[in-house]
Amino acid sequence: MEHTLSSARNAQLWSPDSWKSKPALQQSTYRDAAELERALAELGALPPLVTSWEVLALKRKLADAEAGRCFLLQGGDCAESFSDCTPSVISNRLKVLLQMSLVLVHGLKLPVVRVGRFAGQYAKPRSAEMETRDGVTLPCYRGDIINGSAFTAREREPDPRRMIDAHSKSALTMNFVRALIDGGFADLHHPEYWDLEWVSHAPLRDEYWKMAQSVGESIRFMEALGGQSFGCYPKVDFYTSHEMLLLPYESTMTRQVPQHEGWFNLSTHFPWIGMRTAQLDGAHVEYCAGISNPIGLKVGPSVKPEQLLRVIEALDRENEPGRLTIITRMGAEQVESALPPLLRAVKSEGRRVLWCCDPMHGNSETTAGGVKTRRFENIRSELEAAFTIHAACGTRLGGVHLELTGENVTECLGGARNLREADLAQAYKSTVDPRLNYEQSLEIAMQIVRQHSSTVQQSKLDAAEPRAAMLEAS
Ligand code: PEP
Ligand code: CO
Repeated sequence: MEHTLSSARNAQLWSPDSWKSKPALQQSTYRDAAELERALAELGALPPLVTSWEVLALKRKLADAEAGRCFLLQGGDCAESFSDCTPSVISNRLKVLLQMSLVLVHGLKLPVVRVGRFAGQYAKPRSAEMETRDGVTLPCYRGDIINGSAFTAREREPDPRRMIDAHSKSALTMNFVRALIDGGFADLHHPEYWDLEWVSHAPLRDEYWKMAQSVGESIRFMEALGGQSFGCYPKVDFYTSHEMLLLPYESTMTRQVPQHEGWFNLSTHFPWIGMRTAQLDGAHVEYCAGISNPIGLKVGPSVKPEQLLRVIEALDRENEPGRLTIITRMGAEQVESALPPLLRAVKSEGRRVLWCCDPMHGNSETTAGGVKTRRFENIRSELEAAFTIHAACGTRLGGVHLELTGENVTECLGGARNLREADLAQAYKSTVDPRLNYEQSLEIAMQIVRQHSSTVQQSKLDAAEPRAAMLEAS
């Protein structure tokens, strides 16, 4: 039996429901307690969406990313919606992530761990409880797992049956992703499968195709050299993640399994704690402390080093590589001042966390016309700053966390086509946060390669300098 380190905590103090004794923010009140119980009983009898083997395999890969042996690409929708559980939305999102990961593998010369924000990204934290339109006040939309986005009293009422729907839609999404990948869609011999129909001519697409062709040639060369086909090798895999927000759902999906000790959240491989629910004494930290999954923790600019260290201690008592990924989302303006103190504090405590940059959530703004957007330039600039700051602090940026879609949307300003405010209305589809479109996503992948290579080069130069100085002196 494989032992997971966090199981030590599980023993006496913790249970999947022990979060109930702590303040739980961002939860919904269900009107009918009996109906909630019935829905949870039904959910509890349904099969899990992932297995403990996969969860532990991802944890090992995240440990590799922490050690610099691979790079984490985490991306997908801000919020999935039930109506977007369609073949084209799912496969287009997969295509963008595959294209980005090919750019990263090619440029970084490192394996990439692919984690989708999908197959369960249905719950959203909100800054206000209620929303008022034309004098009518209703509960805010909190994601399809809780209520509907349409502005009617019926839709906005939290409905526990939606948890069953979310489980089914997640399973359908997972099933399609797994079938596509197992069936050969992600085979590196055929990057043409990943082309998006609606992209006719984009400058970045040409650059991308040159890269894909060069990868194809290398594979064929290796096959010729070895005198045999790699078959569907090198095959890629995908993991799922979502914000671990709606505690009754998450704790009901928390299971024990025969082969591994401990408790696993089997609704996803990689749950993360959102910035608004990361309080040390809160229910979300309590719940996550006891499960054996790898955990993500979103950290914003107001968090103080001491505070962060205490949450890290609660979530990762054993300092287990791969267990904790810290996803920083500072905003382009604050990253220079807010990030270094956290990096130094965590480093000086010898903490083995994987650092990941989310350059989206600190850069949201609203246009004069009331549209929620993000400037590509700010996203690019936070990411660039994060690479530089990590290098200066002697820590490593091992991953990125992005909101993106394979649909042809106009939600973020700037990028390859220099989208302007007036263009946003053309195809703004997100019900929550603005996402990068195809070209903007590829551009970010190419920028990561440039930044990563220049930091690696710089650190080689820095390491060579003392030697050069000694040689000169001798
Ligand atoms: C999100 O990832 O969609 C989100 C709400 O992020 P954060 O918790 O960083 O604000
Ligand atoms: Co978001």
